Order: sequence, then structure tokens, then C-alpha cells
Amino acid sequence: MAKYRVPVMPGDGIGPEIIAEGRKVIDTVSEVDSFEIDWIDYPHGADHYLATGELISEDTLKELRKYRSIYLGALGDPRVEPGILELGILLRLRFYMDEYVNLRPIKLFDGVDTPIKYKTSKDINFTVVRENTEDFYVGLGARVKKGKSHTKLDLIRDTYQVKFGIDVETDAEEVAFQLGVMSRHGARRIIKYAFDYAKDHNRTKVTAVDKANVITNLYGMWREICRDVAKGYPGIENDFAFVDATTMWFVKNPEWFQVLVTPNLFGDIITDLGAMIQGGLGFAAGGNINPGGTSMFEPIHGSAPKYKGMNKVNPIATILSGGLLLENLGLRKSADKLERAVAEVIKEGKVKTYDMGGKSTTSDMGDAVAAKVKTL
Ligand code: IPM
Ligand code: MN
Repeated sequence: MAKYRVPVMPGDGIGPEIIAEGRKVIDTVSEVDSFEIDWIDYPHGADHYLATGELISEDTLKELRKYRSIYLGALGDPRVEPGILELGILLRLRFYMDEYVNLRPIKLFDGVDTPIKYKTSKDINFTVVRENTEDFYVGLGARVKKGKSHTKLDLIRDTYQVKFGIDVETDAEEVAFQLGVMSRHGARRIIKYAFDYAKDHNRTKVTAVDKANVITNLYGMWREICRDVAKGYPGIENDFAFVDATTMWFVKNPEWFQVLVTPNLFGDIITDLGAMIQGGLGFAAGGNINPGGTSMFEPIHGSAPKYKGMNKVNPIATILSGGLLLENLGLRKSADKLERAVAEVIKEGKVKTYDMGGKSTTSDMGDAVAAKVKTL
């Protein structure tokens, strides 16, 4: 029997509750499909940080890098200054493992209410491929006061390094700046991933999102590389959309989209909107993928501290992220089965968490999906 060892990091807030349901469903799929998952627990998150002062150590990161897929709940806690856990654990993991793809399927299930009333599951079914390591997320910037200053900003990555030395002379009281950085290699690999993903999933169009009309250097290069990559995929149409217009079309004509590829920051923003049109954050799954290394699967939503410990939130986003994890382990059929189980439970409409207008609990939903898996 094939056996997979999978590190699991439930994290903060509702993280442990949703991960418990995800594990329940994946364990059921593994029974039915005769493979074995050996979960390895990691305590990282707010409690661990408050108790030990450690976010995540280099040793732990090295150890985690030995695995193919990691299952993650959510990070963020009101007892800790915003950004500490997000940057210190979540982005640290994404960057350390070089998980350059952030994969976010936007899919309306029959039986879920979308605010876009007349759209159906046929109209809302696309995947956002978000670049996950560059752009305005590289964390390079400074605030400088009136006068002259010199700021050194280094971007050190396994694959390349860039060193910026920035001389500022200003008569303004204070100025702040932040650098967006894109490498040719970084743009090419994510755009290629999007085209390969389209090919693999029988999709015929890739839409590249940017703001090349204003942020001309960064996204001018993005467009140039995109046109170039597209030449290698004659069966797949390539078009471009500005990010502002993209948000409008998500609402007005979501059926136009099949696969979108976007720089990091715009991808962050448009996938929260994507989550809403598929019925809310309770349904929005995600993967941070390094196709040749360690990947990490987590719902798009955060740790929802106000619902912590209440057995109330919808675990579907985490369960579906578990489906992406199975696909990453090479278990495409089991992943499809998991998604079909979710789709049927939603369509039947007997088990509904509060966000779906019902009273079922987090574990009721996990139980229902796990039971459905057994019947498929
Ligand atoms: C997301 C989140 C993260 C991001 C934060 C928590 C760093 O919003 O996964 O979309 O901006 O990528
Ligand atoms: Mn986000």
C-alpha cells in the first residue's frame, strides 16, 4: 500500500478545527482508495510563539523541505502584532520552499448562493495562478526623513540575488517607498506553469493580469515574457486584462475566465473577490506549489479568531485544499473523488454551516463529506 508522510500545521484560531475535518475526509479517501497518510504534527503558530519566542526555525524548515506536501490551517492571532506570524511563518515557509505558484481555484458548487444570482456552476469555474515569491511581496522598502540618505536593500534568493543601493535626497518631511521586483526567470516559470496547468486540465485560454498601463517596467516585462511563453502553446489562447477591469469582469462575466495568471499582489486581491463570487471564503481553497519541491496547502481564509473553538466555521475550503494536496501527491482520481463528495453534500443541502444559512457544525460538515466519500 502506498504510504505518504504529510506534515500538518493547524496554526491559529479556527485552524485546528478545520484541519481536523480535512484530515477526517482525507483519511476516509485513503481508506476507500487504499493508500495511507501518515500525519506529522507541527505546533507552529501564536501559542508556540508566545510560549517559546520561536516563529519557525531554520532546522524545522530544513526538515520540512524533505516532504512533498504540507497541510496548513491558518496563521494569525490577535495576541500577536499583525504581520509577525504572517511574515515570520507563512511567507517564510512559502519563500523558503520556493513555492512560486499560488493556485486558487474559483468554482461555484450547485447549491451555494453566489451574490451574482443568475450565474451557475457552469459560469464560475476558473483557476487563478498567482505568482507567490516576487512583486511587492519581496519586503524591500524604507521610510526616510528630510535630507540625504542611502538605503541598501538586498534580495537574496537561492536562484538569484539583487542588491539595491538607493540614494534619496528629499525636502519632504518623510517619504516611504517599497520596491516591486520581478525576475525574468520568476515570471517565466509562473507563466509556464499556468499554460501547463491549462493544458493538463483541458482549458483553452490563459488570461494574464497586470497593470502594464501604469506600472510599465515591472508589468511591461511581464507581458513580454507572457507573449513569448504563449508561442509554445499553440492550442491555448492568450489574452491580457488590467487588474481593475478584471475585478469588474469577475462580477459581470466570470464565464470569460478559464485560467488567470497574475503577479503576487494583484493575485492576493482578486482571489478574495473570487472567493466571494464562489459563495464566500468558506469555499475557497488554495495551494502554494513548488512543482519540483515541497508544496503547502491551505484555505485562502485566515484564522478567524472570533470563531475559535466554537465548532462553527465551514471546513469546506480546508477539505478542498486537501484535495489539491492529494493531486500534488499524484492522486488525481482520489482528489476528484474528494471534490465530488463535497459537491454532492452541498447540492443535497442537508448539512449547512452558518455561512450557508444553516446550523450544522464544522464537524457535521466533515462527517457528511467523509460519509459521502464512502459511497462514491
Ligand atoms: C493570502 C494572505 C497572505 C498573503 C497574508 C496573510 C500574508 O492574505 O494567503 O492571501 O497576502 O498572501
Ligand atoms: Mn489574501
